[in-house]
Amino acid sequence: MAGRVVNRFRALLGRSPGEALVNATCSEFEVNKWVLSEFVLQDLVPVVGIHPFPLDELLLMAGAVCRFRPRHVFEWGTNIGASARIFFETARRFCLETEIHSIDLPDDADHVEHPRKRRGILVRGRKSVRLYQGDGLEVSLRLSRDLDPSIPLLFFLDGDHAYESVFSELTGIMEKRPGAAILVHDTFYQSPDSGYNTGPWRAVEDALRAFPRCYARLSTQTGLPGMTLLIPDAAGSVGRE
Ligand SMILES: C[S@@+](CC[C@H](N)C(=O)[O-])C[C@H]1O[C@@H](n2cnc3c(N)ncnc32)[C@H](O)[C@@H]1O
Repeated sequence: MAGRVVNRFRALLGRSPGEALVNATCSEFEVNKWVLSEFVLQDLVPVVGIHPFPLDELLLMAGAVCRFRPRHVFEWGTNIGASARIFFETARRFCLETEIHSIDLPDDADHVEHPRKRRGILVRGRKSVRLYQGDGLEVSLRLSRDLDPSIPLLFFLDGDHAYESVFSELTGIMEKRPGAAILVHDTFYQSPDSGYNTGPWRAVEDALRAFPRCYARLSTQTGLPGMTLLIPDAAGSVGRE
């Protein structure tokens, strides 16, 4: 169904069914939303649903993978593995050689969202997905320590959503892996009287202030929970798509 609608738009633009509509000279973050929407609706939503990532966030996650073609994705927390599965499915669909490293806290950790026995159930047995236990920042920086700086990396932060931890995760990555793209979940801004946790939003603001002119920011703006993509300066250049 979604494919037929997309093909109708292609026909309106004088393109043949299935043909990609690519701006090969784009100079900023740009992805082919026709192709991505088709993939999100046909392949991702049936597998991962739209919770905790609504459609605009699924598009941003899949778009970031297509745009940056990361050799490694480091992501936490794993929980049941929805985000890890999204990165896995996107890399598979677009034939990218991407390994996904997904981290959650140890079994004896006391965290309200700890998945216990359900940790990583959506990605178990997937060859290019590796599961770890520990602190997300610590484990990912250890795993990426010896990688050549030119290797494209994507980090995905979806841990405990407190200002302090997200700020230290962001600045830790910015300091140690300055070329990496970073996605942060739960960043939609709400005014203080809403009572909503603005920790991740504030952490992004302050981290960008601590590393001025190093990243471009792209955020979903239509509602909760919200997601932000931080694009390292060098990655915004032409020809990475
Ligand atoms: C909102 S859930 C993540 C949802 C997950 N990304 C998914 O798509 O299914 C938050 C997870 O982060 C984990 N967590 C919290 N702090 C962490 C940390 N410092 N390092 C790794 N995982 C952490 C929690 O145990 C919990 O499973």
